[in-house]
Amino acid sequence: MSAAARGDRAVGIDIGGSGIKGAPVDLARGEFAEDRVREPTPSPSTPEAVADVVAALAGRWPEGPLGVTFPAVIKDGVAMTAANVDKSWIGTDAAELLRARTGRTVHVVNDADAAGVAEARYGAAKGVRGVVVVTTLGTGIGTALLHDGVLVPNTELGHLEVDGHDAETRASDAVRDREDLSWKDWAKRLQRYYASLEALLQPDLFVVGGGVSKKSDKFLPLLELSTPIVPAQLLNSAGIVGAAALAAEDVAAASSQDQVRG
Ligand code: BGC
Repeated sequence: MSAAARGDRAVGIDIGGSGIKGAPVDLARGEFAEDRVREPTPSPSTPEAVADVVAALAGRWPEGPLGVTFPAVIKDGVAMTAANVDKSWIGTDAAELLRARTGRTVHVVNDADAAGVAEARYGAAKGVRGVVVVTTLGTGIGTALLHDGVLVPNTELGHLEVDGHDAETRASDAVRDREDLSWKDWAKRLQRYYASLEALLQPDLFVVGGGVSKKSDKFLPLLELSTPIVPAQLLNSAGIVGAAALAAEDVAAASSQDQVRG
């Protein structure tokens, strides 16, 4: 029996603003089972064009549950927003589009939610009880809210209004880059942001992901918060691993329902 058929492997694909990345995931370890493959995100990043790339990537690993991340609010597989992707995604049934293209059931999930689930199952939030807020600092700010490891989806707290601004337009990593902010100046903005989240949610832990979390020693020590704040552990594999894990959990839930129905 193959690993995928045994249920310890699933495929994750991460749709981002500049790249679409995929890999099969070893679900016991929360790691890539084979090398990750990256394709550039088509421009414009319309649903049809992106679906072509996802289908080509998924075809490399034809077995196992398939999970796909997308940087927007996803309700029942439908994209409800499009902050940093082509606006034609709004209202698109991404799960149905990708099912039609790949011939497989696809679990579509917000990118930060996928990263949060990966950190909760395998990374910095593993085994942590209480309220955990995972933030991804990238082009925008993505957030995942978990309670005792259970995800509350689509929190979109990167768009929290802080000092009269949409937080991600002041404190994302892309803004740090664009405005050429020093670590100290960027940390002042992060301080305002995380202090606001702390006041509203009283979390037990913050986990900071996104590519810049590799350099967390430059900015996390500058923050003064009551909540512990730690770097993500899965770094750039989190989206793929989380999407694969959620897809596998879907399949497991469906098969246990079938057993109950007999
Ligand atoms: C979007 C979120 C997404 C985040 C990170 C935000 O602009 O609204 O849905 O999770 O960017 O990509």
